[in-house]
Amino acid sequence: MASYRVAVVPGDGVGPEISAEAVRVLDTAAAKFGFEVQSEWFDWGCDRYLSDGEMMPKDALDTLAGFDAIFLGCIGDANKVPDHVSLEMLLGIRVGFDQYVNLRPIRLYPGVPTPVRTATPETVDFVVIRENTEGEYSRQGGFFHPDAADGFALQTGVFTRKGCERVIRYAFELAEQRKSAGDTGRVTNCTKSNALNYSMVFWDRIYAEVAEAHPDIQRDMALVDALTMWFVKNPEWFDVVVASNLFGDIVTDLGAMLQGGMGFAAGGNIDPERRYPSMFEPIHGSAPKYTGQKRVNPIASVEAVRMMLDHLGETDAAAAVGRAVAGTLEAGEIRTKDIGGNNTTDEVGAEVARRIMEEQA
Ligand code: IPM
Ligand code: MN
Repeated sequence: MASYRVAVVPGDGVGPEISAEAVRVLDTAAAKFGFEVQSEWFDWGCDRYLSDGEMMPKDALDTLAGFDAIFLGCIGDANKVPDHVSLEMLLGIRVGFDQYVNLRPIRLYPGVPTPVRTATPETVDFVVIRENTEGEYSRQGGFFHPDAADGFALQTGVFTRKGCERVIRYAFELAEQRKSAGDTGRVTNCTKSNALNYSMVFWDRIYAEVAEAHPDIQRDMALVDALTMWFVKNPEWFDVVVASNLFGDIVTDLGAMLQGGMGFAAGGNIDPERRYPSMFEPIHGSAPKYTGQKRVNPIASVEAVRMMLDHLGETDAAAAVGRAVAGTLEAGEIRTKDIGGNNTTDEVGAEVARRIMEEQA
């Protein structure tokens, strides 16, 4: 029997309650599809910072390295620790494990209300590939006489050939795969080379080089500002979008609204070479004010589990999770407050699990 070790880092705020639903669905899928999951929880986060002076232990990455995958709830609680300090934990894992692809599917499930009028299950079905280890998030720069009248701060982006090339190549390869499954076969380059005259000009040049090797995939480009407009105006145009770290971060919150809100958007921090465990997470924040109320939507976390199962090669189980999510949302009887329901986080998780279990082969 296949067996997987999954590290669960629930994090702050509502992290523990959504992680519980993620693990419930993971365990249910394992029972149904005949594999084993051993999950181990790590109470790393802001409370630990307050007691021990660090978000996670110094050897955290060594510990995590022994796992097959990581589920991350959500990190950060600005009332306890400044965000730029607490979030070093998330960014540290992404970079430390060279999870250079941040895979963010943008899909609207039938039955889910979205505030965006053009968004329908037919028009919203694309993937954003976000660079995840460098670019604008390289954390290079400094404060120079910050208290002086002429003080300033510098923040430098680092765009390496290797870093750009590998993530753009991943986007093209994904577009090839999607094309064989009936999608358009198009990679949109999210750029800003009209204003960022070094980093983004370099990025564009590498995009063109990689595109050259994939003549059957349509080339496409949009400046990031215009891209936000096109996401709303013509979501059906998009197939695969490749973006730098910061731009990918920004456009995927808009993508989440096309999907019905932050309660539906999941992401995978992937090391495609599988040297290290990949990490799956809902992309929403930790909503500290709702802690313990069991009111937030667990679907984003369940979607993260679906992506994890796909990554682990348990594709039948992943598809079953997808059907159970679709069934739950389409029936619309059991739903959380964000989409007009009255149910709790665990009631939605239990409903997804029930559907997985009860589905006839
Ligand atoms: C995300 C988040 C993080 C990011 C924050 C919490 C540092 O917004 O995963 O999208 O900017 O990458
Ligand atoms: Mn974000």
